[in-house]
Amino acid sequence: MIRLDRFMCGAGAGTRSQVKALIKAGRVSVDGEQVFSADLKIEENRTRVLLDGRPLFLPGNVYYMLNKPAGVITAARDARERTVMDLMKDAPGKDLFPVGRLDKDTEGLLLITNDGALAHRLLSPARHVEKRYLVHTAAPVSEEMCRALEEGVEIGDGKPTLPARTERIADMPCALYLGITEGRFHQVKRMLDAVGNAVTALRRVSMGPLLLDDKLPQGGWRELTEEERRTLGV
Ligand code: URA
Repeated sequence: MIRLDRFMCGAGAGTRSQVKALIKAGRVSVDGEQVFSADLKIEENRTRVLLDGRPLFLPGNVYYMLNKPAGVITAARDARERTVMDLMKDAPGKDLFPVGRLDKDTEGLLLITNDGALAHRLLSPARHVEKRYLVHTAAPVSEEMCRALEEGVEIGDGKPTLPARTERIADMPCALYLGITEGRFHQVKRMLDAVGNAVTALRRVSMGPLLLDDKLPQGGWRELTEEERRTLGV
């Protein structure tokens, strides 16, 4: 938590006395409400502060976890479709983007940040960062299917997929956890096709050390905790 006037100074809105005058003059709103109190406490990466209608941001990198719902596309903007960034429009921070892509019908963990170096570290094929999915399937998942997925399957790219990790789920024959370290187009769906099954629903549950917070509602987002940032090295 930070005082509103300190936040505004940090965001480059002026000196302490200048921002106090701006607040007093009614030119500042916090989460949609005009405010007049400089010592109001706000959450720096959660509260939307507008000066004369324009958002203010503290400089520096910000990190959010989004629980992507099905039906929105992973893109910065789109003329027709709703995008994940439309869901993030109240999130403070400049130049935010999603780290990696989930298909329109895929749900789950998406990291949203403006830290290009972290995105590169998480997505670089050489780093082999594991993305783990809960995969629902049309037919029961057999041991043979798991073995094939673990060893690598041909999905039409001319080279088999890299070794993956599978975990069958007790009481859920038509589901498995699948951990992959690549990010090929529609990779999980194509891998399940390759073993004679089919994906009926897909949810990303982790990316490297970052786990989807199961308390986040579909379409909900929150800032990463200190602990989560530490595990990502940021
Ligand atoms: N694999 C897929 O097939 N789709 C996704 O959205 C992610 C991984």
